[in-house]
Amino acid sequence: MPPVPDLDKRDIPGRGRIPSHVGIIMDGNGRWARRQNLPRTQGHQEGLKTAKRIVKAASDMGISYLTLYVFSTENWKRAAEEVAFIMGLVKTYLRGELDFFRENRIRIRHAGDPEGLPPEIAREIREVSEDTRDFPGLSVILALNYGGRDEIVRAVRHLVREGGAITEEALGRCLDNPDVPDPDLIIRTAGEFRISNFLLWESAYTEYSISDKLWPDWTDGDLKKAIGDFQGRERKFGGIKA
Ligand code: IPE
Ligand code: IPE
Ligand code: MG
Repeated sequence: MPPVPDLDKRDIPGRGRIPSHVGIIMDGNGRWARRQNLPRTQGHQEGLKTAKRIVKAASDMGISYLTLYVFSTENWKRAAEEVAFIMGLVKTYLRGELDFFRENRIRIRHAGDPEGLPPEIAREIREVSEDTRDFPGLSVILALNYGGRDEIVRAVRHLVREGGAITEEALGRCLDNPDVPDPDLIIRTAGEFRISNFLLWESAYTEYSISDKLWPDWTDGDLKKAIGDFQGRERKFGGIKA
């Protein structure tokens, strides 16, 4: 179990609370490439650079959990070359950043079904997760072969196998990362107003932020802006503020 995040320590005076868990739907790589007359794969290559920048920024800001939507259960519909390229990038990322994860005490985790992944990718994620599991800093959760519906179905299957009462708590314990708190903020880049099967169960009371910028153009300034906006919102969770 990772340490329970101590939110109060992370309050920035006059700015309010840093969200504990941020999810990002990193969208717009293809459009970025098209605008420069490049193949879509170049957009993903450039998107990886943004992901590295944002992981560093999130770690420096004291965010506890960052879930990055890397590849959905529906993204298998894309051309085989594009899929293979993205899987290759994931492998390069995990291998190439290990020293960075160690230096910054960053823990890597996976959300999604490992069964559907190419075996060497599943192994790579398993090994890096194992190597970094005791790091107390930012947890980066890679949503890869991830679909919110698929996660719920796998959780329900697990629950039925176990027997026992079907409650929200019991189902929650069967999700991919049951100890991770629900996301406070989900950001989507590239201007699309949809959830695309991301963290369906976990986002019941999540705040949303849509950015028009394409993911390869995103910077830590954009992350700070999204968080600043989040800090100005009133969350009520169905209740009424006194
Ligand atoms: C997001 O960028 C990355 C993945 C979904 C893997 P896209 O590839 O979806 O980019 P657009 O939406 O075509 O611009
Ligand atoms: C969502 O983006 C998935 C990821 C960012 C990995 P998509 O580009 O696949 O979503 P749609 O198809 O526009 O809804
Ligand atoms: Mg897209």
